[in-house]
Amino acid sequence: MKKISRRSFMAAAAVSVAALALTACGGSASSAASSVASSAASSEAVSSAAAAELTTVEAGKLTMATNATFPPYEMTTDSGEIEGIDVDTAKAIAEKLGLELQIDDMEFDAALLSVQQGKADIVMAGVTVTDERKAVMDFSDSYATGIQSIIVPNDSDIASPDDLAGKKIGTQRGTTGYIYCSDDFGDDAVVAYDNAVQALNNGQVDAVVIDNAPAQEFVAANPGLKVLDTSYAEEDYAIGMAKGSALEDAVNKALEELKADGTLQAI
Ligand code: ARG
Repeated sequence: MKKISRRSFMAAAAVSVAALALTACGGSASSAASSVASSAASSEAVSSAAAAELTTVEAGKLTMATNATFPPYEMTTDSGEIEGIDVDTAKAIAEKLGLELQIDDMEFDAALLSVQQGKADIVMAGVTVTDERKAVMDFSDSYATGIQSIIVPNDSDIASPDDLAGKKIGTQRGTTGYIYCSDDFGDDAVVAYDNAVQALNNGQVDAVVIDNAPAQEFVAANPGLKVLDTSYAEEDYAIGMAKGSALEDAVNKALEELKADGTLQAI
């Protein structure tokens, strides 16, 4: 049933793929956007008196859990730095809250748990809002749209989501790609990896279902793979927080300001 409702999004998704692909190509522009973001944000940073009212995991800091294997949202540079759209956005939010951003990199499912266990203030990892997750954590307003896409080898006979039936599908551990595919095709058909694209390269799976923006980046970096034009599902990304988090209003207000002044779009 889920499958049908998601597939009704596909026409819309196909249009947004183009927009997302453009975003994905902007990898080199993200550092430039980040400095724009910081200066715009600092000029509006709230007073430290206001920040002092915000209780965070570590005083004076906004602790962000992430999984930096998801370009262009979060990735690790060769020198070990974590950067990306989520990092730039979190920095801008932290500045507005008068807090210093601290990034904790971990597995994706651990990042979701981290806020629930009070170890991080926010999880930003291209996290899709789902009803199941809403039952255990709170979400900010959405800051981006995500699309589940399908990566296959260039010579694959898989041309649409329906063709995934009977195939081995690789996904990132703990992601909506994993959840949807196991719902639609059964647990046995889906394998969870830390690096699903490598499994595809090794021939361990026939396809990978993953968010479109990282899919575009992975395909660009791995000759012989392509992203199918028809996508699998459309989703909203939001910032996850503990249930009842006192930060939620401040985070939403910061997001709203960053949308209104164009910072978010620039990022
Ligand atoms: N949007 C998907 C989800 O929420 C995948 C996110 C994976 N993010 C990451 N940083 N690895 O399940």
